[in-house]
Amino acid sequence: MLVYVPYELIDDGQRVLTKKLITPDNLENFCTDGTLYVEPGYILTPGAIDKARLADITIHHGKPHPKEPPALSEAGPSPSDQHAGHDFIMPTINLLGSGCLTRAIGKIKAMDCSKALVVTDAMLCKVGVATIVTDMLFQHGIDAVIYDGTCPNPSVANVQSGLGLLRKNRCDFVISLGGGSPHDCAKAIALLATNGGDISDYVGIDRSHSPSLPLVAINTTAGTASEMTRFCIITNEQTHVKMAIVDQNVTPAISINDPQLMLGMPASLTAATGMDALTHAIEAYISTQATPLTDAVASKAMELIVKYLPRAVENGQDEEAREQMAYAQFMAGMAFNNAGLGYVHAMAHQLGGKYGLPHGICNAVLLPYVMAYNMETAANRLSDVAYFLGCRVHGKNAREASVMGIEEVCRLLLKVNIPTSLTALNVSEADIPCMAANALKDACALTNPRQGTQTDIEQIFRNAL
Ligand SMILES: [Fe+2]
Repeated sequence: MLVYVPYELIDDGQRVLTKKLITPDNLENFCTDGTLYVEPGYILTPGAIDKARLADITIHHGKPHPKEPPALSEAGPSPSDQHAGHDFIMPTINLLGSGCLTRAIGKIKAMDCSKALVVTDAMLCKVGVATIVTDMLFQHGIDAVIYDGTCPNPSVANVQSGLGLLRKNRCDFVISLGGGSPHDCAKAIALLATNGGDISDYVGIDRSHSPSLPLVAINTTAGTASEMTRFCIITNEQTHVKMAIVDQNVTPAISINDPQLMLGMPASLTAATGMDALTHAIEAYISTQATPLTDAVASKAMELIVKYLPRAVENGQDEEAREQMAYAQFMAGMAFNNAGLGYVHAMAHQLGGKYGLPHGICNAVLLPYVMAYNMETAANRLSDVAYFLGCRVHGKNAREASVMGIEEVCRLLLKVNIPTSLTALNVSEADIPCMAANALKDACALTNPRQGTQTDIEQIFRNAL
């Protein structure tokens, strides 16, 4: 966001002045000892007036002008300058819908690669899904080796093992097969294959210097949406901290969401991954980086998830519910990949790192409590969320509607049989201070609409006990 208005005016002395805006964001630069000084040539915006009144700041027109904001060139780029405007990042090619896996080989052949490392887990190998993929490759002259050691909450050791296999076999591209864990593990392997170093070197936002090896992500859950995002979460097994690598270079080249591959998901995994997708949609919608584009896909995702998740949990063979959930989780991914997430994910990462708990379950338990915390600053957006979840919010004020939305999320949790407290997950109160400190450092915390303190985050954890 720019501070200065790009036009000029003539003042009484016929001098040309550049008009400047005082906004809620830069208000503090013009205040001293509880007084806001507005010099000639500055425009006080309505938002800044409101903020000054709320903070009991006296408005004084005239000098002194205590703290001139530095020119942008002197100040260097601020976080908001670095994010002027918005990117919209997603894979170039995305296959969706029942049976789409059969069309994947044509897209893969067009990549002109010869040998794949297929990153998956032991279960998908055991039930023969990995073989379906490798047979498809072999029939079209593409060689492949399988790494099936990915654990839930993939670790640094998983990444190193897979990378070793890739180098030993001289693979020139990577296929991930499964849910979020194989996708994240594969992203880290593909990134290190071209950038070198350790995965911890890339914690943060866009820290890599080179594109990763081409990655084809075949999804079997709905969903983390990791098959189409620039997020890669790897657990440091020494410190039990989940490292968030947010890097456009880990975005897969091709994503594949064939609901036929999701029919076999057990009810508990369907519920957990579905609640993860709902959390993505809600956090993206209330994020500080939300745009009309991300709002559109986040809101549609909420509508679909509240309608189809209970059906998919109740009957895993419900093909319509599986297909609609595949689309919903993909749209939630489009939303959070570009608008970011919030405290639910920042905190859930700590629970996953510390206790190895499933990501979707951690999100689901925390979601109502973080929504309640965010009501103070995001009640209007949360009242929209309630509407998208099907609540009858007509005639309700923003706070009342927000509460209805939180209640609807709780009802959904009960409907799909997810634990509703951290105590039920054997989380210890003694670990809360450390987890809260790490949550505040998590990249996902940056876009939460209400920025909190260590005490705030600890309290949210305790509320969820
Ligand atoms: Fe997630």
